[in-house]
Amino acid sequence: MNKKFKRTLITSALPYANGPVHIGHLAGVYIPADIYARYLRLKGEEVLFIGGSDEHGVPITIAARKEGVNPQDIVDRYHTIIKDAFEKFGINFDIYSRTSSEIHHKTAADFFKTLYEKGEFIEKSSEQYYDTEARQFLADRYITGKCPHCGNENAYGDQCENCGTALSPLELIEPKSAISGSIPVMRETNHWYLPLNKHEDWLREWILEGHKEWRANVYGQCKSWIDMGLQPRAVSRDLDWGVPVPVEGAEGKVLYVWFDAPIGYISNTIEVCKNFPDKYGDWEMWWKNEDTRLIHFIGKDNIVFHCIVFPAMLKAEGSYILPDNVPANEFLNLEGKKISTSKKWAVWLHEYLEDFPNKQDVLRYVLTANAPETKDNDFTWKDFQSRNNNELVAVLGNFVNRAMVLTHKYFEGKIPQCGELTDYDQQTITEFLKVKADLEGYISQFRFRDAQKEAMNLARIGNKYLADTEPWKLSKNDIERTATILNIAMQITANLAIAFEPFLPFTSEKIKNLINKHDLTWNDLAKFNLLEKNHALNNSELLFDKIDDEAIENQIEKLRKREKENDQITVTAKPVKDNVDFDLFSRIDIRVGKVINCTKVPKADKLLQLNIDDGLGGRTILSGIAGYYQPEELIGKNVCFIANLAPRPIRGIISEGMILSAEKPDGTLAVITPSLNVDPGSEVK
Ligand code: 2FM
Ligand code: ZN
Repeated sequence: MNKKFKRTLITSALPYANGPVHIGHLAGVYIPADIYARYLRLKGEEVLFIGGSDEHGVPITIAARKEGVNPQDIVDRYHTIIKDAFEKFGINFDIYSRTSSEIHHKTAADFFKTLYEKGEFIEKSSEQYYDTEARQFLADRYITGKCPHCGNENAYGDQCENCGTALSPLELIEPKSAISGSIPVMRETNHWYLPLNKHEDWLREWILEGHKEWRANVYGQCKSWIDMGLQPRAVSRDLDWGVPVPVEGAEGKVLYVWFDAPIGYISNTIEVCKNFPDKYGDWEMWWKNEDTRLIHFIGKDNIVFHCIVFPAMLKAEGSYILPDNVPANEFLNLEGKKISTSKKWAVWLHEYLEDFPNKQDVLRYVLTANAPETKDNDFTWKDFQSRNNNELVAVLGNFVNRAMVLTHKYFEGKIPQCGELTDYDQQTITEFLKVKADLEGYISQFRFRDAQKEAMNLARIGNKYLADTEPWKLSKNDIERTATILNIAMQITANLAIAFEPFLPFTSEKIKNLINKHDLTWNDLAKFNLLEKNHALNNSELLFDKIDDEAIENQIEKLRKREKENDQITVTAKPVKDNVDFDLFSRIDIRVGKVINCTKVPKADKLLQLNIDDGLGGRTILSGIAGYYQPEELIGKNVCFIANLAPRPIRGIISEGMILSAEKPDGTLAVITPSLNVDPGSEVK
């Protein structure tokens, strides 16, 4: 690390709290951030590692509307699930908070106000789609219509999920409001914009000249954004979920989620410093002091926000530091296909924990070994199995187990005396030193897959050392040599507990328990006197066990099954109407009745007159189904009808209810009948 920094502030993208997290999230952001934080802490450096849920934005309001609950209910549910999954995978945040908290709302509002008062925004009015029935402006996601590229009838105002094209709502053919189903109109609305064009010069200098060391994918994306010319970006939205815009006359407007979310890093820092002042000190030390090195861990879809928009916000505010690096990862695919939450093509963390209890480190290991650091990568269950069986079990687990078992066998579980070292012993120790230097070099360049490979190399060196020296073959006369070999093997074991700590924290803890030694730090790595003579070991236990074919086939089968189910369900139906409360629903009396007689209504092409046995003395109902049924087809059938619809005259006949039918896309009506024979007058619930 560059000498001028005294501490490191690590942030990890705040996941949206509208669904559980999956392996793609873990591989892309949280494992790398956790490795880095653990490594620096182990080196004794001052670190603050920030996480939290991103609880605003339109998708959360859509999820809430679908379920008929409040957005707060959705985020409460998923915040808990996500936080729990991270904890179980050992993602060791100093704080995991949330953007719906009071402290965040205040921090974000204050940040906006400062920029507003400094004149850092421009205010502009523009025309946007408005739903006159629901009386609200429509976010892009809330407008559906026909895709101009592929003809999909259910494209969204921001994207067509059928052909993947990014859209603007104005491109949709026959746009409709997803809230009320009505046709939206254009209406003027006012918003605040961050004029990124004003920041272009210093951003160009700062990134393109000053940060050539950033990952090629990050640098390249920034370059192409800047070269295209930066445009003002709206930082407010017409929505009722989010941080209200703290300006007079801004009722019904909230901060755009991408304006408030990165401020979440700041509010979470304020929160943790307030709660633990002795441990973390003053929050401003983390954000406003040039001694702090700020690192954002994110996925590649977040690059522009963390490298351009957020830095511009920080610079406009004036008192904040800027990120020193933004090691964004590419995407992780699953069995050759893009991970998709909506298509259920994912491995969810909470499900993994159920299927593979106590195997968090196996997934951590595989996801780091395949980390999408420079290109998109693929997770396959077969690779998961083979890395577990051939690397964790056969190399790391096997070495530690052999060293432990032999020391118990020959020296009653006590560290034996190290005698004179042979050239080969020396060579092994020297190799260790080299690997340590490589490992550190990789971590400091955020190359965690190479770093983990080096840690595994230490175990390979250990395995080779035991295989070459074969202490189990030495005769009793060679007890001194056996002692030296096993002393070295146990020192290697202690070293493995250190080297793997950032990557496999649970395994490192297990090794420390086995060797009965916990006070190991990074600075002890590559030392060969960590366990003193006669130090007592605990009993040996296996670190890993094999994963069999059946477990792997079950996982693949699970994915395929879900894919099939998903293929059968496509979105073709009309959007659901506004929710009604249960009271209103229960006031509607739906019954089953038997059609006793049915005739055409004279001079009305569409109408049939039905005489119904309703178990209450009978009634007459008129229904517009003459185009789809001959009267005699219906006689004797059980039908469903609304029994308490106020009677009304139609063509001079009083109709006492309404027959329920389902409508096909071409408008054909199909009368609803119960699947079993039931008595006339039975209630439909
Ligand atoms: O892409 C996402 O999942 C966003 N919720 C990330 C936000 S990162 C930060 F700004 F909080
Ligand atoms: Zn399309």
